[in-house]
Amino acid sequence: MSKHYLIVGASSGIGAALLETLVAQGAAVTHLSRAPERAPDLPGTTGVRWDLQAEPFPADALPDRLDGMAYCPGGIRLKPFERLKEQDFNAEWELNLLGAVRSLKGALPALKRSEAASVLLFSTVAVQTGMPFHAAVAAAKGAVEGLTRSLAAELAPRIRVNAIAPTLTDTPLAERLLGSDDKRRAAAERHPLKRVNDAQDVARTGAWLLADAPSVTGQVIAVDAGLSGVRLF
Ligand SMILES: NC(=O)c1ccc[n+]([C@@H]2O[C@H](COP(=O)([O-])OP(=O)(O)OC[C@H]3O[C@@H](n4cnc5c(N)ncnc54)[C@H](OP(=O)(O)O)[C@@H]3O)[C@@H](O)[C@H]2O)c1
Repeated sequence: MSKHYLIVGASSGIGAALLETLVAQGAAVTHLSRAPERAPDLPGTTGVRWDLQAEPFPADALPDRLDGMAYCPGGIRLKPFERLKEQDFNAEWELNLLGAVRSLKGALPALKRSEAASVLLFSTVAVQTGMPFHAAVAAAKGAVEGLTRSLAAELAPRIRVNAIAPTLTDTPLAERLLGSDDKRRAAAERHPLKRVNDAQDVARTGAWLLADAPSVTGQVIAVDAGLSGVRLF
C-alpha cells in the first residue's frame, strides 16, 4: 500500500520540494495552503485551499489514513528588538506554533490509523545560535522545538515527531535576504561550508525523517551548512 502524506504549505519553497521528493518515492500527497494551485502538479497529489490564520482546519479533506505530515509555514520577521511590536511576536507565534498545533490536532486521527506515522516540523538555526534581529521568529521557533520533543514523547511508539532547523534557504521566504548575487555570496561566506541551502537540501532530509528514519524521534536536525556546529578557527 503506498504511503499518503499531508504537507501544509507545498505551494512554495521547501514544502514544494518535499512534495516532489515524496511523489518521486511513490507516495501520495494531500497538501493545504492559500494557493494550492501553485504547488507542483504531480500525479497522486491533491491540493486543498486553507488559510490557517482565517479558517478552521479542513479535516474533511484528509484521507482516512495518513503516514505522515509536514508543517511548512513560517516567517522571517527580522527587526531590532526595539522595533518589534507585540503584534510581530503574535504573528510569528500564530504562523509557526499555533498553525502547527491546529494542523496536528486536525491530522492526528488519520495519523493514528497508520502503523508507523511521522511528523515533521520546522525550526531555524537561529534558535540554537543567537542572531541579532531574530527575537520574534526565534522565540516562536523555540516553542516549536519544545512541541517537537513533548509530542515525540507523548505520541511514541506509533508516531515519530522531529524537526529540521535550516539556515538561510533559497526560497521565496528568503528572497529579501538572498535576492542578488552579492547577497547570496555574502551569506554563503558566513557558513563553514561556504554555501546556503537550496530547498532540495532541506526537502531530502525532510523526506528521510518522514519516510525512512524509523529510529529517529524527538530530534531537531540542523541543515545549516555547518553554521551551528562548526568553527573554522
Ligand atoms: N527559507 C529560509 O531561509 C528558512 C530558514 C530557516 C527556517 N525556515 C523555515 O522552513 C519552513 C519552510 O520555509 P520556506 O522558505 O519554504 O517558506 P515559503 O517559501 O514561504 O513557503 C511557506 C509555505 O507555507 C504556506 N503558508 C504560508 N502562510 C500560510 C497560511 N496563512 N495558510 C496556509 N498556508 C500558508 C505557503 O503557501 P501559500 O502562500 O499558498 O499559503 C507556502 O506554501 C518555514 O517554517 C520556515 O520558517 C526557512
